[in-house]
Amino acid sequence: MPTFFAPSGPLKGSVKPPADKSISHRAALIAAMCDSPVRIRNYLDSGDTNSTLSAVQAVGAGVERKADEVLVRGVGLRGAQEAPGVVDVGNAGTLIRLMPGWLCGQPSGDWELDGDESIRTRPMLRIVEPLRLMGAHIDANPNGTAPICIEGAPLHGIDYELPVASGQVKSCLLLAGLAASGTTRIREPQASRDHTERMLAAAGVPIRRDGDTIVVDGLVDELELGVIDVPGDLSSAAFMIAAGVLVKGSRLLVKDVGLNRTRIGILRILERMGAVALADPERQDAGIPAFEAVGDLDVRSTTLVGTTVEPDEVPLAIDELPLVALLGAFAEGETVVKGAEELRFKESDRIATVVDGLAGLGADIEATDDGFVVRGTGSLRGGRISSHGDHRLAMLGAVAGLASEDGVEVSGMKAAAVSYPGFAQDLAHLT
Ligand code: S3P
Repeated sequence: MPTFFAPSGPLKGSVKPPADKSISHRAALIAAMCDSPVRIRNYLDSGDTNSTLSAVQAVGAGVERKADEVLVRGVGLRGAQEAPGVVDVGNAGTLIRLMPGWLCGQPSGDWELDGDESIRTRPMLRIVEPLRLMGAHIDANPNGTAPICIEGAPLHGIDYELPVASGQVKSCLLLAGLAASGTTRIREPQASRDHTERMLAAAGVPIRRDGDTIVVDGLVDELELGVIDVPGDLSSAAFMIAAGVLVKGSRLLVKDVGLNRTRIGILRILERMGAVALADPERQDAGIPAFEAVGDLDVRSTTLVGTTVEPDEVPLAIDELPLVALLGAFAEGETVVKGAEELRFKESDRIATVVDGLAGLGADIEATDDGFVVRGTGSLRGGRISSHGDHRLAMLGAVAGLASEDGVEVSGMKAAAVSYPGFAQDLAHLT
């Protein structure tokens, strides 16, 4: 049954977004690699991150869920056990790309990782090839997708330049680098999210940045985390922020949201479009901090002007680019996103699904090879949109509905639970 999102009156009040999905995945995995128990406060309770808890349990870690925290009893860096069957990653791209980095360097054992239909379409050679260069015994399907088979083997460090900026691939190789002999150096063409680097620094790993290269020395003895506090997810909050900006008369406070400088691309884009002012939350030259920046955002509705998102901004706003398309439909002038081919490899082909979806609601939008161009008209008619099983498409449709003239019917709304299970309730609370 489709869900109808009617044109809305002003959004008011405050909202605490769900915990950060990227940081939750990393917290569970790195906690499982520790020798002593780790308390994860504010762990995200969602489809994707619950897959990660099940996956670490499958390789021997203990997981206790308490009211407001998850306790993980890790098996140590080299202690992953063989799983009773296939490790099921569900829909979680971050899990299937990060976990092999850990498993490949185990002294012994075999594992198979697989997921849902959408996971089986996503490219895995981006981790398989560099892991093999490190000595890993890892295989994907002949077409380069899941399932992935791994046999633990001795690894050695590499100097590797990522062909595309990717927080997932970088993280996978850094995790592999921990158990490898020698030094691993990963060069990024553009900066991508650095949660793994920060969490490893917090776990006592002497990880460092040398210009655009992340450096980690291998044969690490042990990791120790103690307690991790997961901040709110800016990528989830972005849907509320966009709704607040687009629906006339809105004013809302978004509380306790992660403001890591490698995640705030959407706020910089919004700033240029005329909404949301942001004081710099973090110094640019601070090295690799062992913590995550957190803050509150005051959002109000405003008129927007079009902007161009350049390729170097793309990794810093990758999951929010569908919202940039929607915002662009309401802005004065043209909004262009360049250098975003990676959108084609997300939970859906997000260039195709966003462009077709918003065009179906009346937006003047066109796909390009590496992004899209939207000519703003100041309003959106409304109509029907499908999530294609993609959580961010489902929430995009909902926000479009609130800001539209006729409302939007979203089919496949339940996909939102992959990252934001309380999405509909939080929206209802604000509207
Ligand atoms: C993620 C990195 C990004 C992002 C994804 C989560 C992560 O993917 O799109 O939702 O947690 O590292 P890529 O690293 O593939 O760009």
